[in-house]
Amino acid sequence: MKGSTVLLDKQTVKGFTFNNRYVCAPFDISKATDDGLITEELLSIYKSRRGSSLIVVEQAAISPAGQYREKLIFVDRNECIEGLSRLAAVIHDNNQVAVLQINHAGSAADASITKMEAVAPSAVIHPVFGRAMPKAMTKDEIHKLREDFAEAALRTKKAGFDGVEIHNCHGFLLSQFLSPITNLRTDEYGGNLENRCRLLMEIATAVRAAIGDEQLLLVRLGLDDLLPGGLTLEEGCFVAEKLEMVGIDILDISTGLVPPLNLPGPAMLRNMLRIVKGHVNIPVIGAGELWDIKIAADMVEKREVDFIAIARPIMDKPDFVEDLLDKIKKAQQ
Ligand SMILES: Cc1cc2nc3c(=O)[nH]c(=O)nc-3n(C[C@H](O)[C@H](O)[C@H](O)COP(=O)(O)O)c2cc1C
Repeated sequence: MKGSTVLLDKQTVKGFTFNNRYVCAPFDISKATDDGLITEELLSIYKSRRGSSLIVVEQAAISPAGQYREKLIFVDRNECIEGLSRLAAVIHDNNQVAVLQINHAGSAADASITKMEAVAPSAVIHPVFGRAMPKAMTKDEIHKLREDFAEAALRTKKAGFDGVEIHNCHGFLLSQFLSPITNLRTDEYGGNLENRCRLLMEIATAVRAAIGDEQLLLVRLGLDDLLPGGLTLEEGCFVAEKLEMVGIDILDISTGLVPPLNLPGPAMLRNMLRIVKGHVNIPVIGAGELWDIKIAADMVEKREVDFIAIARPIMDKPDFVEDLLDKIKKAQQ
């Protein structure tokens, strides 16, 4: 495991110190109250996830219509701030950077829970989730969505988080806007790629204005839909470049309409990460079965990625990353 010490390297982003190259990836565990408030159980789970330099807390719904499944965290109203501030404090107590992922599920929302008609860029049944036919959003609804993201981000800041991550992957609403499969609009939010990514750029800009320059702004970008006729890797790289231009701080990379979980690992997104890394100058986080220290270290060493995000092993073993760090430190002695 010689050479793996690169994973212990600190990095500073905007004055925030990242103690190593590991990130606890966002994964929703449905442990909030029915109306999306933070529970003691959630606090104790996050408290046990020690080791990584950054925790990106699982997707929090920015509005009731955007709820993907039951007992998700909500950040849609000021009542949520108190519980979220306890969550941020738990993460800071472990000397980790705290970021909250904010999301609207669009046509992947579960209408049996939301009791609302799902919304989407266009009336297209979700090609992966296959839920009910959604309603195409009006321009007013699109503008309101922009405000909802900005207000959710401001609440996150008020709760004491170090930043927010805009969820734009895994088939949720913003990835539905990027994809030519789910976005059939003929106005300025649909059609060519410039138009399909307009909403994401507007939201990133509105969120930045809401949280100010000192907070971290991350986007988890689905770089490739992995479906014929969907967003291509080349298009994803164009969007990544634009995100850097509008001033995001860190690019977190995953897949678009199709979540990465069924792809054969390990390191199933490695090629994608290496390619996008060549397109941007901001730090890049990558995930996708990067559980092997050697592979992770090789990727960081070769500058294919800056941070290694881990999800599934942490579900069963919350101190998984701490163990990896111990192994690396021992090998170093
Ligand atoms: C149960 C579960 C829930 C997830 N929820 C989210 C989520 O809320 N937001 C997100 O961006 N990714 C989510 N993911 C994807 C993970 O962040 C990660 O990208 C994926 O699991 C690949 O990393 P891994 O191979 O280390 O598990 C979820 C994954 C799982 C298994």
